[in-house]
Amino acid sequence: MTYYRALGELPSKRHILFSTADGRQTYEEFIGEEGFSSTGSLLYHTGIPASLVDSRPWDIGVLGTSVNRPLLPHHYRLHELFPEHGAGKDAVRDRRLVLGNADVRIAYVVCDTPSPLYSNAIGDEVVFIESGSATLESVFGAVQVRQGDNVVIPRVTIHRWVPNQDDGPLRLYCVEGSGHVTPPAKYRSKFGQYLEGSPLTERDFRGPEEILLAAPDEADRDTEVYVKHRSSDGVTGSVVTYDHHPFDVVGWDGQLYPYAFNYRDFAPVTGQIIQPPPTYQVLEGQGYVICNFVPRLLETHPLAVKVPYFHSNVDSDEVMFYFAGETAAREGSGIRDGSVSLHPAGYTHGPGAKVYVDSVKHTESKETAFMVDTFRPLELAADAAGSEDPKYPWTWAGRGPLTPQQTTQQAPQQAAAGAPA
Ligand SMILES: [Fe+2]
Repeated sequence: MTYYRALGELPSKRHILFSTADGRQTYEEFIGEEGFSSTGSLLYHTGIPASLVDSRPWDIGVLGTSVNRPLLPHHYRLHELFPEHGAGKDAVRDRRLVLGNADVRIAYVVCDTPSPLYSNAIGDEVVFIESGSATLESVFGAVQVRQGDNVVIPRVTIHRWVPNQDDGPLRLYCVEGSGHVTPPAKYRSKFGQYLEGSPLTERDFRGPEEILLAAPDEADRDTEVYVKHRSSDGVTGSVVTYDHHPFDVVGWDGQLYPYAFNYRDFAPVTGQIIQPPPTYQVLEGQGYVICNFVPRLLETHPLAVKVPYFHSNVDSDEVMFYFAGETAAREGSGIRDGSVSLHPAGYTHGPGAKVYVDSVKHTESKETAFMVDTFRPLELAADAAGSEDPKYPWTWAGRGPLTPQQTTQQAPQQAAAGAPA
């Protein structure tokens, strides 16, 4: 994050002996990015943060991916991956990989059960809440999160997800980076403050409000933490055990901590003609950017096209996640709540022809989507293949694909005569 917070009991200076008001000795831990040379926080534990007593492998699940060849757009209906609506599942161990590359992995999970303690040592996570609500508990304290939140969790933060049982299953769209995630530089002053005109400002971000300590009967027990960590070919996992519960932080301060903001708090910029997608950027990662598309008043020019014009992503693969009803730009394509579309570089995409023309009449958009644009190509995960809509690539032309015979032998007039739908 870009600004300073402090919670709980702290010593007057850094790096000095410190006991709490009731006499407990504390042990200082620095969680800092880029060695000791960038954003960080100082945490004051009553236990020894390094007190390991065990470690064993964690089999994370199906991580295989394949190249998007032959080149095609793709559509996944993620709800189909969890037909039981997440009964008995948790937000950490039951994620299913959808798309990935060396910079970022996109996974999906539906759950209703508290997760184990978890730490992602590969990179920062941005978890978008499609539905439901939860408490994100961490060594920094608790953050209440709800539908429509973008939840940013820094690398190595020990945390767990506790779904709110009264709010239906918790549906999470998980963007796991290999590096750090930051607010876009274009919105901030050279000192980090959000600028006038930024669509988000500090008031929109919710961080931990109170220190969170383990219950007395859990505090001194051996406690497991599931850790996702680096391997030579990407991702692997271990379950490490400490001789106490890691929620023993009596105070912390700094600029590194988990936080959340809701897409409803994003103030869209509109104009006489449509604004390009970067107008909706909310975060930037290493090798990708994230945008929130939000309801807005539409453009005022009498002939303004009010859905995104056709575009070829010269330098990126584009992944849209649709989560709250209206999907005007791809109306008629089969896209619905819980859908993901992948529009890769090397292929032009946009709205259907009728949608493009009819959009001129509209005055307001309720369209919502969460977008990830990656600069390296995304590969297709085997674990999501069962949710793919095979008709999607042909929804603009209304027919296809060609038979092998047509592909190799057809003359132009034969192609015009029609191919199987
Ligand atoms: Fe696009």
